[in-house]
Order: sequence, then structure tokens, then C-alpha cells
Amino acid sequence: MQPISLTQHLIEEQRRHDSVNADLRLLIEVVARACKRISIAIGKGALGGVLGEAGTADSISVNVQGEAQKKLDVLSNEILLEANAWGGHLAACASEEMADPYPIPDAYPKGNYLLLFDPLDGSSNIDVNISVGTIFSVLRCPEGVAQPSEKDFLQPGTRQVAAGYCVYGPNTLLVLTTGHGVNVFTLDREIGSFRLTRANAAIPDETSEFAVNMSNQRFWEAPMQRYVADLLAGKTGPRGRDFNMRWVASMVADVHRILTRGGIFIYPLDEKVKAKGGKLRLMYEANPMSFIVEQAGGAATTGRSRILDVQPTQLHQRVPVFLGSKHEVEMATNYHLDADHPG
Ligand code: AHG
Ligand code: MN
Ligand code: MN
Repeated sequence: MQPISLTQHLIEEQRRHDSVNADLRLLIEVVARACKRISIAIGKGALGGVLGEAGTADSISVNVQGEAQKKLDVLSNEILLEANAWGGHLAACASEEMADPYPIPDAYPKGNYLLLFDPLDGSSNIDVNISVGTIFSVLRCPEGVAQPSEKDFLQPGTRQVAAGYCVYGPNTLLVLTTGHGVNVFTLDREIGSFRLTRANAAIPDETSEFAVNMSNQRFWEAPMQRYVADLLAGKTGPRGRDFNMRWVASMVADVHRILTRGGIFIYPLDEKVKAKGGKLRLMYEANPMSFIVEQAGGAATTGRSRILDVQPTQLHQRVPVFLGSKHEVEMATNYHLDADHPG
């Protein structure tokens, strides 16, 4: 028998948990449809003219984060906006690639949800044909707000009603939570439908694999230096076993490996990103990924406290991220807490 479709899964979630009303189902289906279009564009590569930088040689295009935009950053953002504008399920969108929230055009009815996304995660991997992805988060629009502004988006991650990511790799996968576990869907490219291929994904509590950009080692804080030194010391060190390392530099791909076989993913504070608060974005990356990881039995902290409890103060806020196998995240967090409160 064929694995069930995304639509059937969402209808069953609603029957079981009353957690996916018709508007939320439409929203998730529209995002999934947009991700299919992004997947097709990525799949064409150089033949579709989608590789390389956005803008011109004389004037490169830079986003609100101060990062050079790739053509696919811009295209994926446009695909997500266009797909979501007219369905009547959204009050507004916000994107890593846009300075301000995007209001739903007046021509269309407005709904009760706010959608936030990182349209293309892992941009540095586009041109080298390594997995990239899309990350999204769904919040409720506060009661009585007709024209949402930045402050209406500033809700802690605990308020997310759904979150997910797509990985555009050898397979295109959609990973989704609506607060009742995590489910993985594989895109059947021939019929254009996402099918449930892994129900109730669970991250093992223990791991011997870590993911971090080691080239930043000398810029890290002292407790992070100590934690990784103890991992690297292996069998004869304080941890008493050898650790393996992986770093794809696409958060979606690194998180997906952790969802599959466990591990810890870290983008810590370092001297280079300290002034900004961290490298990864709270609303588009850290919160949705933390919601997914917690729903799969893992943990996610800033190195000091739970990410989902952080009260955002800015739409484009950044935070340090430690997420994955529960015991390992607790261990790394304790190195920081012990350093902050010695004795
Ligand atoms: P984005 O492409 O959306 O800007 O995100 C890139 C992020 C994340 O996906 C990845 O984990 C990290 O940046 C990689 O950073 P380094 O290049 O510093 O290793
Ligand atoms: Mn990203
Ligand atoms: Mn991005």
C-alpha cells in the first residue's frame, strides 16, 4: 500500500488531536507546494539558470542581514510569498530575506496566522550541489490585529502552532510538527506528492557525534572551548569515548542527520558574531528547529537556557544554538552554566 499523503496525514492529525484546522491545513499544504516548486528549481541547477549571485557584477544584492543574496535566495523567497498571498489563511509573512513583515495584499482576504521562513537555508552550498533547505514557523496573529507589524511576530517559540523544514538533497523531504510529534514525508517526484515515510521520528538521547564549524574554535567562549576539548580528547579524556564530527554548513542537513541518527548541532557565540547575539536567526532558524527537535524528544538551548522560552525583541534577532540529543545538549549547557556560576 502507498504511504499516506501529507493531506491525509493532516486530516488525521485534526481528527486525533484537533490541532490542524482547515486554515492551518491549507497553510501547510501551500508551503509544501511552494517547496515543491523550489525543489524543481534547485533540481534544474545550471540548466535553469538558478545558480550564482543575485544582482549584477557591479552591484551585488545584499539582504537585511548584510549577506550577499544568491539567485535562489531571492527566487525561493518570491515563490513562498506568491504561493501564500492569496489563500486567505495568513495575516502576514516575515522572511529572513526581507527587512520588514510582508502584509497580505489588500486584494485578498486575511487569515489568522503568521508565517515566518528562511526561504533558502545553506546558501553557500547551492553552487557546489550540496543539500540546502527551507525552514518555516507558524504563529497565531494576536487577536484583533488587522495589520500585523513587527511586534506582533515577537512571540516566544513555545507559541508556534506548526514548524517544519524541507531538505533538498538526494531526496526532497518535508519534516513537520504541529505539536504532536514529528513526521517525515518524502516527495514522490513522479506524482508530485509528499508521502509519510517516517512517523513519530525520535532523536536518541545519547550520541557520539557533534556538528560545529571548528574553524571558529579560537573565537569561542571558554566553556565552549572546554566542552569541545573534552569531546576531542576521546577515549582517554573525561568523556571516556571517541566522538565523530560532521559539518555540512546547511542547518537543515545537519539537523536532519541528527533527527535520523542523533547528534549535537552547535552554532555558539563567538567573538565574530557576539555583537549580533549569535549567527543563527531566532525566528527563522532556531525556533522552528528547536520546536521540531523537542517534539522528537531532543533538547535545544542557547547554551544557557531553553531556546523556545526566549522572548524575542527583534524580528531578525540572532541567538547561539545548541540542539539535538537530549543528554549531550544538557552536558554542553552545563559547561556554560557551571562557568557562569562557579562553585
Ligand atoms: P543561510 O544560508 O540561511 O544564511 O543559513 C546558513 C547558516 C546555517 O544553515 C548553517 O548552519 C550556518 O549558517 C553555516 O555557517 P558557517 O558558514 O559559518 O559554517
Ligand atoms: Mn539559514
Ligand atoms: Mn537563508
